[in-house]
Order: sequence, then structure tokens, then C-alpha cells
Amino acid sequence: MIPIASAQPESVSARDVQHYLRPGTLQLPALPPLSLYIHLPWCLRKCPYCDFNSHELRPAELPEQRYLDALMADLEAALPLIWGRTVHSIFIGGGTPSLLSPEAVDLLLGGIRARLRLEPDCEITLEANPGTFEKDRFRAFRSAGVTRLSVGVQSFNDDCLKALGRVHDRAQAIAAVEEAAQAFDTFNLDIMYALPGQTLETLRTDVATALALGPPHISIYQLTIEANTYFARFPPVLPDEDMAYDMLDLITDMTGAAGLQRYEVSAYAAKGHRCFHNLNYWQFGDYLGLGAGAHSKLSFAHRVVRQVRFREPRLYMDKALGGNALAQEVEVGRTDLAFEFMLNALRLKDGFPVAHFGERTGLPITAIQKGLELAEAKGLLERDLDRIKPSMRGFDFLNDLQSLFLPTSKKT
Ligand SMILES: C[S@@+](CC[C@H](N)C(=O)[O-])C[C@H]1O[C@@H](n2cnc3c(N)ncnc32)[C@H](O)[C@@H]1O
Ligand code: SF4
Repeated sequence: MIPIASAQPESVSARDVQHYLRPGTLQLPALPPLSLYIHLPWCLRKCPYCDFNSHELRPAELPEQRYLDALMADLEAALPLIWGRTVHSIFIGGGTPSLLSPEAVDLLLGGIRARLRLEPDCEITLEANPGTFEKDRFRAFRSAGVTRLSVGVQSFNDDCLKALGRVHDRAQAIAAVEEAAQAFDTFNLDIMYALPGQTLETLRTDVATALALGPPHISIYQLTIEANTYFARFPPVLPDEDMAYDMLDLITDMTGAAGLQRYEVSAYAAKGHRCFHNLNYWQFGDYLGLGAGAHSKLSFAHRVVRQVRFREPRLYMDKALGGNALAQEVEVGRTDLAFEFMLNALRLKDGFPVAHFGERTGLPITAIQKGLELAEAKGLLERDLDRIKPSMRGFDFLNDLQSLFLPTSKKT
């Protein structure tokens, strides 16, 4: 990474936009699709496994209007960097964005529409926690313009939910999903597996319960113990790795039989219900991230830039309202760029069109030639003139495959 600026970069408006457009060694023939990510950094309770930028808060203390004002100020300051571009998807994530009132979501989306052009069929996802479920509330999110609800269920088993410290139980999870199915044309369930005390049989029941609710999309993650979480300090007993592999096989079989195709490492979808927003991340598209701790990746004709907003919610609001929410900005170096593209694109079962590599990194395909040859020789990768994709083995041993594209300096 080449730092563009130190701890606190100048605001974009203060700096000439020409700075981003000046000549450089990359040649991007066109800019990729642009998505918008909005982060809400508060939750009813902090889950013991969670390392996301989320902070516990009583709903009555939510500084809704001030946060909305900060998001709009943040967007205004970032506009020069995405001037003239159309937004293809919006993801309101967290944290627990379903803590926002429907009126606030309406204002937020109205504010975005007033400042940016959205694709007519722009996908607009909102993450919802069943602990915030109220019937009319979910419907009102739909009326405010949300097209897709992502329900953070995690499990339908009350013992697992308790072990995960979730604020909701099985009955609330089912009620929330039933409502999502009625109020939205498409929705997602977040599920986790390899949970404390979970067996193949309890997982089977869990997945069967999820599938009986007819979700067009499921995201399934293996529970990982992240640094600086409660579980890192007090680790629970988890199923071993062999069991976790068996669990993943069971999930893939059951979802496949229900017509959901595994199209990315953790994502399963019915035909026509893949998540555009996440696909854009994996296909190395662009995204502008607004809100506390949000990350952005933005392309220009001769460079790709990553940004991070201030993480602590109150500091973020102060800084954004003061005109500069950026805590960090770096220009991605050539070798990191090739690796980052492969890290994302190889997560997709169908891989990527060969032409995407040059279009989205501005580099010639020869930049990854060695890695491609090695991966092919090891049986981890398949390619023809049009497409490069992980082999079945490569998909199963993704870390091994991705590590072949690490910049030499970072190889262990
Ligand atoms: C950004 S989180 C937010 C979702 C929402 N706040 C919720 O929990 O209901 C998105 C998803 O990541 C998954 N996740 C979070 N921490 C995880 C961990 N340590 N291991 C595996 N999956 C995790 C959960 O499935 C979660 O729903
Ligand atoms: S509700 Fe979601 S974001 Fe909030 S602490 Fe739990 S897992 Fe993290």
C-alpha cells in the first residue's frame, strides 16, 4: 500500500480532485459498477463472538437525527470522487440498522436519491435483527424503499442462540423471517454453524427449519473466534475441524436439494436471487462506505484508493459534521492490487472473466501469470480463453489457492 495521507487526510473537497485523476502507472479502461455501503454502529447488546464495529446502546439513546446529518455531510464531502457515476446497490449494514426508525430509513434513502443517481432496479438491502422485529416496522422499511431484508437469524435452536448471546429466541426469529418473506420480494438469512454444543443432528434440524421458511438466499458462516472478543478471552468448546467440514457438506447438500446454489464460499441463492451488492465486492467493483468505521474502494483512471472512516461513533459524527470523516486513505500498490483482486474473485464458484482482471486492476494479466500456472499445476484452478475459476479442489482449499497470489514480500 502506498499511503496517500497520514492519520488524518485532508477532506476531499479541500484537496483538488485532480489529485486522484493525475497520471499513474495503472491503466483502467473504464470504471467498475459502484455500490454504496452505510454503516450503523449500534446494537441492543454486543454478541460475544462479534468483532464488527458495533457498540451497545439503549434504543432510546440512539442519536438518530445527528447520525443521519453526519451521513449526509459525509456523502456530500465524498461526492466529487464519484461524480457522474450511477449507484447499482445500497447496503445498510451494521451493527443493527433495523434499530433505525422507518422514517429515518426513508430520510436516509431520500437524501441519497437527492444527491446520487440510482439504477432503476437498484438493490437496497437492510440488515435486520429479529430482536428488533415488529410487523409494521418491517413493512415500513419496504415502503421506505428497502428492496431486500437480510435477517440475522444465526440459528433457530434456543440453546445455540443462548450460547451465542443473541437477544432473540427461535420464535422471534421465525416470526421475523415469515414477515420478511411476506413483505419483501427477496430476502436473506444469516446462519452460523460449528456452534458451541452443536451436533450434525441439531444442525440438520436448524437448516431444515431455515429451508422450510423458503429463503431465496442464505449466507452461512462457520463461527470463528476473533481477537478482542469475549469468546477470545473465554473460548467456548466448539466442534472440531473435521466435524466442521462434515457440517459444511451437510449444509451444501441440504441447500442444493432445496434449489439454492452455492455461488460463493458462504452464499447460497435461488435462481435470480444472488446478492448484487456482495457480488460487486467479490468482482472487485467499487464501493463508497459511509458511516463509522466504513471502508471504501474507489477506482480512478490511473489508481485504486482505499479509505476508512473514523471508527468511534461519536468521533465519526463530529468529524463528518466538520467536513472530514476520513481516518485513513491509501493508494493500493500494484502487487497488492493483483492479490486483492484474486482474494475476492476466487471466492466465486464461477470465478471471473479473464478480461475483468485488466479492467478492474489496470494491470496486464501477466501480473498473475506465475500464480496461475502454479495453481493450475496443483489442480487448484481451471481456465480457458474466457474464464478463470477455482477447481472443485481449489474451492475446498481456498486459502491454499489464494496464497499462491500473495505478493512475494508477504509469503510465509
Ligand atoms: C455484519 S454481521 C451483522 C448482522 C446483524 N448485526 C446480526 O448479527 O443480526 C453479518 C453476519 O456476520 C456473521 N458473523 C459475525 N461474526 C461472526 C463470527 N465471529 N464468525 C462467523 N460469522 C460471524 C453473522 O452471521 C452475522 O449475521
Ligand atoms: S447483533 Fe450483529 S453486529 Fe451486533 S454485536 Fe451481534 S453480531 Fe455484532
